[in-house]
Amino acid sequence: MKLFLDTANVEHVAEVAAWGVLDGVTTNPSLVAKEGHDFKETVLNMCKLVPCVSAQVTATESAGMKKQADEYSGWHKHVVVKVPMTTEGLKTLKYCRSAGIKTNTTLVFSAAQAILAAKAGANIISPFIGRLDDVGEDGMGLIKEIMEIWSHYHFDTEVLVASTRHPRHIVDAAALGAHICTIPYDVFTKLSKHPLTDIGLKKFLDDWEKVKK
Ligand code: E4P
Repeated sequence: MKLFLDTANVEHVAEVAAWGVLDGVTTNPSLVAKEGHDFKETVLNMCKLVPCVSAQVTATESAGMKKQADEYSGWHKHVVVKVPMTTEGLKTLKYCRSAGIKTNTTLVFSAAQAILAAKAGANIISPFIGRLDDVGEDGMGLIKEIMEIWSHYHFDTEVLVASTRHPRHIVDAAALGAHICTIPYDVFTKLSKHPLTDIGLKKFLDDWEKVKK
């Protein structure tokens, strides 16, 4: 399974990339606004660190989306154009597939939307599990349903589990065979930790202090 960082913070990308476990980054307009830096510069800096950086279009009509897709994909070969799951987005996915522009369909909340995005040519689909949980639905249940559907066909569309909230989401997504998880920085740092690791390391070092010359 590929692990992406869900952020527009370049320092965080550099830190996690240095651990040797990072396959990509997903940004969105809210994350970019939170950091307050230039969008293109942010994306280009991330493209130096990882091979896959999702950059989201902000147009809502397919003509504008296609224009932004052309522009963003020209910035760097690592850019994946993020397109919202609307009918205008579907037209844009079809265009991008024929133009050789890589895409990630965002704001997927149902299996029906996942199927449409895959058929329209999305390289990646992003079901948002945390936001489904937030409204009392079963986010991981949606991933299970999509992975089962994918097992019957030959879609080349990768399933990216988005809107993850805690480490268990990543483990459960891996058990279901999801291709990618995108993870906020604070959740990513929790993945590497276990209290028994800290306790065990402290004991090793304390014991070593007693015998070292
Ligand atoms: C995915 O690409 C999105 O950026 C993201 O996972 C949204 O997550 P949120 O629900 O925590 O905002």
